[in-house]
Amino acid sequence: MLHGPNLNLLGLREPQHYGRDTLDDINRRLQEQAAAAGIELDALQSNAESVLIDRIHACLGDGTDLVIINPAAFTHTSVALRDALAGVKVPFIEVHLSNVHAREAFRHHSYFSDLAVGVICGLGAHGYELALAHAIKRLAQPA
Ligand code: DQA
Repeated sequence: MLHGPNLNLLGLREPQHYGRDTLDDINRRLQEQAAAAGIELDALQSNAESVLIDRIHACLGDGTDLVIINPAAFTHTSVALRDALAGVKVPFIEVHLSNVHAREAFRHHSYFSDLAVGVICGLGAHGYELALAHAIKRLAQPA
């Protein structure tokens, strides 16, 4: 589970868009969901593009089956993060807390969506749990 920039501020940050759950709340629920399904979940938040890129590169050798990513503002800016996911060829699900399509025009374009297995946006923190539920199902029945 990769969380992009400023998501460490969840709980404080613009709750009208992002809700009141903290990143720890979200990660805790995801860890419980993963443990109940018998899968290992590694969660990382970074404000640095290079840290996220390096973690994606590490998927090449660490047995990662799938990535759930909220690229946050990098969604709309980062060719480098897109290229990392494309280069490693790891399947990924893109998640946004807010409905980016109902917000400013610059949030309507994503550098990730056309490569993603699927995209969830606008469902708040529940979107992460839905993405993980899909990942669990997919891992049990590989395509
Ligand atoms: C976000 C939407 C982005 O536009 C924004 O820059 C974020 C969070 C979301 O989860 O709704 O930081 O990815």
